[in-house]
Amino acid sequence: MPNFFVDQDISKAKTLATSFYTDPANLEIAREKIFAACWQFAGDTDQVKEPGWVTPVNLLEHHINEPLILTRDKSGNINCLANVCTHRGNLVVEKPCKLNDIRCKYHGRRFQLDGKFLSMPEFKEVKDFPSPDDDLGKLPLHRWGKWLFTSLTGKHPAEDFFKEMEARVSWMPFDQFNFRPDLSRDYTVKANWALYCENFLEGFHIPFVHAGLNSVIDYGNYTVELFPYGSLQLGLSKEDHGIFDLPLSSADYGKKVASYYFWVFPNMMFNFYPWGLSINVIRPKGPSECVVSFLSYVWDENKLRQGAGAELHKVELEDEDVVQNVQKGIRSRFYKHGRYSVTREQGTHHFHRLIAEFMR
Ligand code: FES
Ligand SMILES: [Fe+2]
Repeated sequence: MPNFFVDQDISKAKTLATSFYTDPANLEIAREKIFAACWQFAGDTDQVKEPGWVTPVNLLEHHINEPLILTRDKSGNINCLANVCTHRGNLVVEKPCKLNDIRCKYHGRRFQLDGKFLSMPEFKEVKDFPSPDDDLGKLPLHRWGKWLFTSLTGKHPAEDFFKEMEARVSWMPFDQFNFRPDLSRDYTVKANWALYCENFLEGFHIPFVHAGLNSVIDYGNYTVELFPYGSLQLGLSKEDHGIFDLPLSSADYGKKVASYYFWVFPNMMFNFYPWGLSINVIRPKGPSECVVSFLSYVWDENKLRQGAGAELHKVELEDEDVVQNVQKGIRSRFYKHGRYSVTREQGTHHFHRLIAEFMR
């Protein structure tokens, strides 16, 4: 059993033991103890805009691969269900579609759009049938704005993970945020998922790795706020343009905010810029590879090429480069662990502490 320990006192702490990143057994353990236990991005409400719309989702592809569906039922409610027929396990929905009810193609079992069993041919003689076990499995669903999240175990209340972020930026008109496939893409990074996340969690490297971004961000006033299961890095601007027009109700009113970099444990980033939102979902693909989805939701098209969120692709390649080198470095017999900057690496330290706690 792995026993990861990271001291609560950042000034005394050593970074996470390298076996977390390199040992495939630890990734298996993390799959259950971290990924299945926490909240995961499932999609958005535009994918199930009207009653009858059904969309399959492969939750955490490459790692958990849980087949799910999002549905909008007749009463207009959104459901997150197992995409698995309760008869012999066939996948019930293969592509997004509009339906009256869900019918399994294998032997014709039918379900309501909220997952409830409806009918089944040739089952008259079966005793104690149907029972609630014959309904499609139902998962918890958390909705924030148009974004949908689910948890495979439902072990932790969604509130614990999202509360602070929601309170901070919910003044934005999320119904005007539109998903833009043309500005969204996946990156395959040859590094452990946690190395990618911990790089995101410190702005310490900005002056060294991101010259372009560094010319926009006021590094001296860059702040990190820690939440129980997340954090916020606030990017303030050196300039008066490319910043949010904040309402009086915002906790940040009066600041020149260029970007909100929220992170939700373990693998989701919500980067708000004056043009909109870039969601990043990090999916492990083996111990030394991950796939990073950049999902862009545009609110104000005119601001797309301004400020801290102007060159996301360039910044991403700069991050990938350094993170991939770290992946090679931590395998070295000469590296056991490092220490943290007390002023600049609180976010990374917090992440490592959470990993140690969940892996226990
Ligand atoms: S597996 Fe679905 S009806 Fe048989
Ligand atoms: Fe970076």
